[in-house]
Amino acid sequence: MFRTNTCGDLTAKDEGKTVTLSGWVHRRRDHGGIIFIDLRDRYGLTQIVFDPEFNKPSLDTADKVRPEFVIQITGEVRKRLEGQNNKNINTGEIEIYVNEIQILNEAKTPPFEIDVEKGVNEELRLKYRYLDLRHERLQNNIILRHKITKEIRDFLDKKNFVEIETPILIKGTPEGSREYLVPSRLYAGKFFVLPQSPQQLKQMLMIAGFDRYFQIARCFRDEDQRGDRQPEFTQVDMEMSFVQEKDLMEINEGLLIELTKKFKPDAKIMHEPFPVITWKEAMEKYGSDKPDIRFDMQIVDVSDIVKESGFSVFSGAIKNGGVVKALKVEGAAGWSRGDIDKLEEIAKIHGAKGLAYFIYNEDGIKSPLSKFLSEDEMKGITERTGAKTGDIVFFGADDFNTACEALGQVRLECGKKMNLIDENIFAYIWVNEFPMFEKDKATGAINAVHHPFTRPMDEDHHLLDTEPEKARSIAYDVVLNGSEIGGGSIRIHEQPLQQKIFDILKITPEDAEIRFGHMLEAFSYGAPPHGGIAWGLDRLVMIFANEPNIREVIAFPKDQKAKDLTLGAPSVMPEKDIREANIKIIND
Ligand code: AMO
Ligand code: AMP
Repeated sequence: MFRTNTCGDLTAKDEGKTVTLSGWVHRRRDHGGIIFIDLRDRYGLTQIVFDPEFNKPSLDTADKVRPEFVIQITGEVRKRLEGQNNKNINTGEIEIYVNEIQILNEAKTPPFEIDVEKGVNEELRLKYRYLDLRHERLQNNIILRHKITKEIRDFLDKKNFVEIETPILIKGTPEGSREYLVPSRLYAGKFFVLPQSPQQLKQMLMIAGFDRYFQIARCFRDEDQRGDRQPEFTQVDMEMSFVQEKDLMEINEGLLIELTKKFKPDAKIMHEPFPVITWKEAMEKYGSDKPDIRFDMQIVDVSDIVKESGFSVFSGAIKNGGVVKALKVEGAAGWSRGDIDKLEEIAKIHGAKGLAYFIYNEDGIKSPLSKFLSEDEMKGITERTGAKTGDIVFFGADDFNTACEALGQVRLECGKKMNLIDENIFAYIWVNEFPMFEKDKATGAINAVHHPFTRPMDEDHHLLDTEPEKARSIAYDVVLNGSEIGGGSIRIHEQPLQQKIFDILKITPEDAEIRFGHMLEAFSYGAPPHGGIAWGLDRLVMIFANEPNIREVIAFPKDQKAKDLTLGAPSVMPEKDIREANIKIIND
């Protein structure tokens, strides 16, 4: 037997008991002949005492142990002396006087301390992830993830969802991201790919009649890394038959509210039910398809006011089919030139050519543009934005998406700078009516905004033949505090409509046949109307755990360059294995 109790169990009620504990040496203090050790396991810390008057041989052994040794002790539970209690831990009222100790395993000095978590370089943390995971914060994150996942399973089970596993080795999909390829040993020159999501398979499960499917599904995308992206991540993936957008929203909202109430009891859910905003409105008001509505600060359109303006940046943008947008920041008139330059930098990173502004001083509007704009134009802008003395108004003049997105990013930065974000608020919002297609700026090619199985809105079907770029889809994202935590759509279930979408995407019938003939075929055997959604589980847990990036809630994440530093992958493979996989390495 290794233990009678864990290191988080014992309280004053256990006084006088003889107990056995096993765990890691968290901290060791030598107080002139008496040694104190904080013994650690997943459940907590217990203070153990080696007193020569109680048991001298144990003290001699304790003298040899170092941090992170694994030990087993047997001893007597005693109440701590008056004034020595530690209120921060469960076991803070007691300590254990040891009369037997055994060193179960020694430990090298770890490359970083486990008992304090401070500025350790992330590369080192990821290389020694098993040690990093000993930190209480990370253990709590991983346990929170487990609890959230379990709650999701229980909730969906009660709602008649069936959890079904789908394969990891699948066929290339048209979902948009670059795929990880797996060469076939048995079929030279052929490949499996790792799924970007179980999209096609969950649709087939609807055709099969499962009605309600879910999966905690691993997805793989060979894309550039960011704080909230990993090449390998986890979705809470769902699909339902005979549903409309509102049915999916209702189920998902119910689950998100339950999770929030259970795991963030102190957070205030900003709106219940969640507001629904169209993509267009989200872009217009917040300059983002994932608006952070914890603070107001809305963008307004001033195109009509400046369309004939002498300031050619404004009038020119409108003549080119673009827009001029304005963002009022209250109380920002005192910001320095440097502050404004920093915001301009942000706007430029997001595609803007500049960031024109008005500063509303006591003695009127100060602006590099004032000499180009008429009195009427300035008055019109002041009225439209509601700007008063003490405010700044920023401008974006460009095509719709660029002007909105650039000001949207400036808005976020100003919200942070002005401390307008209450971290205790959970602001969920649905964004829907996304465009069906988007034009690739570089190549001019038309791509699906969501994926090619997404259903166009009924009232926009007529646009598919004439102006497909204007067609909207029955697609929806759920956003939490400005982060896209989930996205889905109602699907096309009729083969001819699916064929038409492939045509618009310039996927030739031959290509469609080779790449997803199986889908088109499946649709021809009685596919029910269906739709679904997938959440980014890592992102959700990250927000619930109040962490700045998703690596903190994944046990073994890839680093920012998509490498696994713990195992050292990707790695070189033996020549023989490469040949067997029918691969030839080209060294550029
Ligand atoms: P989508 O591509 O929008 O939809 O993905 C769904 C959700 O998954 C999360 N996510 C990611 N999380 C971490 N790292 C990544 N690289 C990453 N990429 C996406 C996001 C996103 O909202 N099959 C469709 C869903 C459907 O239509 O049902 C899909 O995969 O939170
Ligand atoms: P310029 O005439 O290029 O010196 O620009 C005058 C001001 O307008 C500067 O403050 C620029 O940052 C700003 N500006 C230039 N182009 C744009 C644009 N497309 N949208 C918003 N502001 C702009």
